[in-house]
Amino acid sequence: MCCRGKRSENYRRGVCMRAKKHVVVLMGGISSEHDISIQSGEMILDNLDTDTYKVSSIVITRDGEWLFSDEPGEYMEISRAIPKLRDMHPDCVFIALHGPFGEDGRIQGLLDLMGIPYTGSGCSASGLAIDKIRSKQIMRHVGVSVPDAIEFTLHDWKLDGEGIAHRVSESLGFPCVVKNPRQGSSLGMAIPKTADEFNDAVEQVLGYGYTLMVERLVHGTEVTCGVLDLEEGEGEEALPVTEIRPVKSEFFDYHAKYTADAANEITPAEIDESIRDRVQEISLNAHRTLGCRGFSRSDMIISGDDIVWLETNTIPGFTETSLLPQGAAAAGMSFKDLLTRIVATATI
Ligand SMILES: Nc1ncnc2c1ncn2[C@@H]1O[C@H](COP(=O)(O)OP(=O)(O)O)[C@@H](O)[C@H]1O
Ligand SMILES: [Mg+2]
Repeated sequence: MCCRGKRSENYRRGVCMRAKKHVVVLMGGISSEHDISIQSGEMILDNLDTDTYKVSSIVITRDGEWLFSDEPGEYMEISRAIPKLRDMHPDCVFIALHGPFGEDGRIQGLLDLMGIPYTGSGCSASGLAIDKIRSKQIMRHVGVSVPDAIEFTLHDWKLDGEGIAHRVSESLGFPCVVKNPRQGSSLGMAIPKTADEFNDAVEQVLGYGYTLMVERLVHGTEVTCGVLDLEEGEGEEALPVTEIRPVKSEFFDYHAKYTADAANEITPAEIDESIRDRVQEISLNAHRTLGCRGFSRSDMIISGDDIVWLETNTIPGFTETSLLPQGAAAAGMSFKDLLTRIVATATI
């Protein structure tokens, strides 16, 4: 906002003061991805353009208390935090939360009601994308390949665990992938190789929630591809594709994701141009179909002639080893430029 036209003292002196936008970075949170969110948030704080933005932060503790950077040591319950955030009148909340309560539409709904613009997808796209069962149904419906899967609840498992294990063995085979459908960062995931291991995996993954999905293990080359919105109404662009090769891990697990050098991440991916184009097309398709906003990143496996979509992340990582910033860098965009682009698309 420019002061042009205002007969202020500064204007008479020929100084046109441009008010900096206040961006509040929201990080931490009560999900099991708390630590990753803190890493993402700190990278964002370090890289937001302070020539353009006034920057502050809020850390949500694992217990759900809010800690504002302008009141260090003052842990607030949400009932006190909400009026404080409202009175700050931020121009934008940069949501750097991952997983349930941060990436699933709930915090987005709160900010919608408060009338505070925020980065990334709105309530419904966030709620849809974090649900791997429903987002897969939708992506299958628009003609994208997804892994075959069987879903069941703790109740189903107690009632007929043996029957479920039999169905999994007959229709998906072992090894298979056991997932909690609402977790990220590969938490709550296991790849059992035998029926015995399958039973242990189910018990372990049930610790993350009462609904499970078991997927066919897809063999092939793992890739991921970011999408950024262009200027309002101008559509979106897909970033260069990254190929992921975990060094020691069997799959792209928590260790491979967040430990330096535990995975070789090659951007742009060393894949045929025609495959690259299809990967980018699927990422754009997922972004539009799920109704994402601002940015997203979709994970896929190239398996022979097929490209199998695994999921779309509405708040992918922004840590030092994260993939969306790598894709942006390969497109010639610095971390700072990437954040500026994202803040520019913030809305309610
Ligand atoms: N059906 C599958 N076949 C093969 N590998 C898989 C499958 N599903 C997940 N994986 C592996 O697990 C990782 C995490 O799975 P993903 O569905 O992307 O969940 P998250 O939200 O935890 O990233 C993937 O990056 C991939 O390495
Ligand atoms: Mg993933």
